[in-house]
Amino acid sequence: MCGIVGYLGPKNPKDIIVSGLKKLEYRGYDSAGVAILDQGKTKRVRAQGKLKALEDKLQHEKFDGHIGIGHTRWATHGKPSERNAHPHQVRGINLVHNGIIENYLDIREELLAQGADITSDTDSELVAHLIANEVDQTKDLFKAVENTLDKLRGAFSILVMWEQEPDRLVAFKDGPPLVVGLGEKEVFVASDVQALIQYTKKFVYLEDREVASIKGSDVQFFSANGFPIQKKIVELNWNPEMVEKQGYAHYMLKEIYEQPRAVAAAIEPHVNPETFTVALKNIGFGGQPVQKLEELDSKTDWAKTQEVFKGIERVFIIACGTSNYAGMVGKYLIEQLAKVPVEVDIASEFRYRNPVIPPKTLVLTISQSGETADTLAAIRMAKEMGATTLSICNVRNSTIDREAHGHLYMNSGPEIGVASTKAFTSTMAVLNCLAIAMGRSRGVMNEANEKDLVRSLLAVPSQMEGVLAYDKYFEEAASKLKLFRGFLYMGRGTSYPIAMEGALKLKELAYMHAEGYAAGEMKHGPLALIDERMAIVMVAPTDHLYEKTISNLEEARARGGKVISIGTGDNEKLRSISEYYLAIPQAHWTVSAILTVIPLQLMSYHLASNLGYDVDQPRNLAKSVTVE
Ligand code: G6P
Repeated sequence: MCGIVGYLGPKNPKDIIVSGLKKLEYRGYDSAGVAILDQGKTKRVRAQGKLKALEDKLQHEKFDGHIGIGHTRWATHGKPSERNAHPHQVRGINLVHNGIIENYLDIREELLAQGADITSDTDSELVAHLIANEVDQTKDLFKAVENTLDKLRGAFSILVMWEQEPDRLVAFKDGPPLVVGLGEKEVFVASDVQALIQYTKKFVYLEDREVASIKGSDVQFFSANGFPIQKKIVELNWNPEMVEKQGYAHYMLKEIYEQPRAVAAAIEPHVNPETFTVALKNIGFGGQPVQKLEELDSKTDWAKTQEVFKGIERVFIIACGTSNYAGMVGKYLIEQLAKVPVEVDIASEFRYRNPVIPPKTLVLTISQSGETADTLAAIRMAKEMGATTLSICNVRNSTIDREAHGHLYMNSGPEIGVASTKAFTSTMAVLNCLAIAMGRSRGVMNEANEKDLVRSLLAVPSQMEGVLAYDKYFEEAASKLKLFRGFLYMGRGTSYPIAMEGALKLKELAYMHAEGYAAGEMKHGPLALIDERMAIVMVAPTDHLYEKTISNLEEARARGGKVISIGTGDNEKLRSISEYYLAIPQAHWTVSAILTVIPLQLMSYHLASNLGYDVDQPRNLAKSVTVE
């Protein structure tokens, strides 16, 4: 998962690389380092721990060169330490790497037999050795990298510089993302556009097994076997402020508060607020590459989309983490509104269980980053097995977005906090649009029903504002949570995935043990856990399952469990049986999950930040999981 940044141009590489790494710290934060040219030599500075440790070390360092690379690490091979930090340096070759070299043991043995001086426990350093050996022969960095690629197996991206060619950077991608940013007489490379958006808006996205050879300000692209290729320059309309904290204590808090806007942006392209109808915008079924989506004829595209929806007999939703819980909400929506059977799968399970994908299946992948390795592998497999694929991503042009047949977007703007929030609620909003569109296309939903559902959906952003306004109550409830030994989150229907997501947020942020359960399952085991030190967080909006949920709550309460409940409006019953009762506005069941998750996000946030934990970068985690 690691973050990579590189710079070649007239400015000071140190500042650009460090500011880029700050934006990429979400990708890994157990060590960091830079290698920058100084007086004809590459000076390397590395530090264990968060980027701050590297920044402190770099404070008084000066470099007179105009080329450099940097890295922030999430350990795979070799524990977090300075000696395992990147860049790896071997006889003037400097290399940063993201991903895994699967045949590293063989390479290591071979290098040791040749007498190589291996100074770290990483697979990455071995690649630097191989390139250094090649460059001794070729005296050309580009050729040396090219010759090395055939020897490596795995999913990885690298960025390399060589002291002897101080105006060249070579980048290669086969798995984890890499983009090349094009400026005025300067070129950047990074794992993610967020690192570079303050310097340029022009990007070229490397595809798998593509090489970028940068010489001065000239960039050329090649396939891994050396054929020159033409690449499209994509211009992004993000502004740098979109990736700043804007006065909030943490990115996560900012992102929680951005949710009403994000949800509005997610539904805006698809919903007509005058006719209360849904027409999905520019999905692009038919195999067009995503770059051309804006040029699609919306009318014919929508007709094609409806045709696809009419023809499908089954949906698989595949994702990881929080995106997987959004997918579970999607199951309830699509089955109820479009009457198609839906299976939800964790990507890492799906890809290895030889799934049976019948003909006429739509495989829907959900991924904020669009780079999660398991989800990407799952979509590739589904395509090979003949399924039509549709992705919901936040990051446009990400690998999953580019590879899917059809494309939908969360439109949340950059999400930096490692624990996903606004991408989750935006996805649930998009899933509402998708389920309505499918229901109408398949003729199982009438116009009046569509109008009601769209009205409910359009009301959500302002209802979310209403929920956020009660933050002080969520903070107060959070202050009591640290007294508990464990937490059982429960819900039924779409509140079940919300219970799972609430428990995940608490684990990720506050490092406390929490389980999410279908409320009806309590008596099949979890009730045994309940005593006065076990908190029950019950998600119980007033819907068709409310009465049943209350019965489950009573069963737990009778065994001494302390209750925190989330319900609709001024609910006297819930208030009277709960230590804390947190209210959301009345909403249709199809959208209530978008509201009930907000108190859960904020409670976990406040608890973790009061305990002094790093909310934006919880220990051992990373935002973009590009290794399996
Ligand atoms: C990581 C992140 C989670 C995220 C999951 C899936 O574990 O920490 O917040 O939900 O990956 O990521 P994706 O980008 O595929 O949605």
